[in-house]
Amino acid sequence: MATKFEPRILSFLCNWCSYAGADLAGVSRFQYPPNIRVIRTMCSGRVDPVFILGAFLSGFDAVLVLGCHLGDCHYLNGNYHAEKKMHLTQRLLGIAGVNPHRLHLDWVSAAEGMRFAQIVTNFTTQVRELGPLGREESLIQCLKAAKAAVQQEKVRWLVGKELDLIEKGNIFGEKITPSKWETLLNAIIEGEYKKMRITLQLEETPRSVKEIADFSKLSPLEVSSHLTDLEEAGQVRLHSIADRTPKYVRAR
Ligand code: FES
Repeated sequence: MATKFEPRILSFLCNWCSYAGADLAGVSRFQYPPNIRVIRTMCSGRVDPVFILGAFLSGFDAVLVLGCHLGDCHYLNGNYHAEKKMHLTQRLLGIAGVNPHRLHLDWVSAAEGMRFAQIVTNFTTQVRELGPLGREESLIQCLKAAKAAVQQEKVRWLVGKELDLIEKGNIFGEKITPSKWETLLNAIIEGEYKKMRITLQLEETPRSVKEIADFSKLSPLEVSSHLTDLEEAGQVRLHSIADRTPKYVRAR
């Protein structure tokens, strides 16, 4: 008989509300599945997209982030930043071929032990239905590219500035509308992800445009265009030309 899949879920709980809520759930003996592993952070806003992608790369099937209710963050707006960061990470997971529902953000106060148990129970059920994340090499490469993409300067800048640019505007007081922001965000994270897919392939072995395109499932035109940008940025260099075909490698 096949054994029932039990997901491994990494959870980040903010110190001031959710962690206390989890504690209350334990003290009150509320039942919930034992699938989560807990990391306590000072605020949900501290949970970086890099931590989430690192968790998936380390073998977790899903990630749960819990913070104080909106308006109750002990650092004023950390949980608003957490919302933006999780949204960006979900987008990136989708681009990388991972179901974005494997990442869940929610709010639990220190007095909500029952709510904590309910959220963990519901999320565990949802992840059981999604099944194991899988450890295929192609998926690992996509997750590595996603993790490298969120470490790029352009994306880091986006992660920190969204709220300010939508609500307060830039130094000239010009605000960006949420829909424009969405379009900009998608274009940048997708572009950075694809560049990282290309760069990671060129770590050890020099490859041609066609070889990169075949491996990464990008069109040769897209690969050429990103290679030009990467060459200009000094991240990739021409390695050799064999049979009139240029091969590229990552620049050190
Ligand atoms: S302190 Fe709990 S979300 Fe910020």
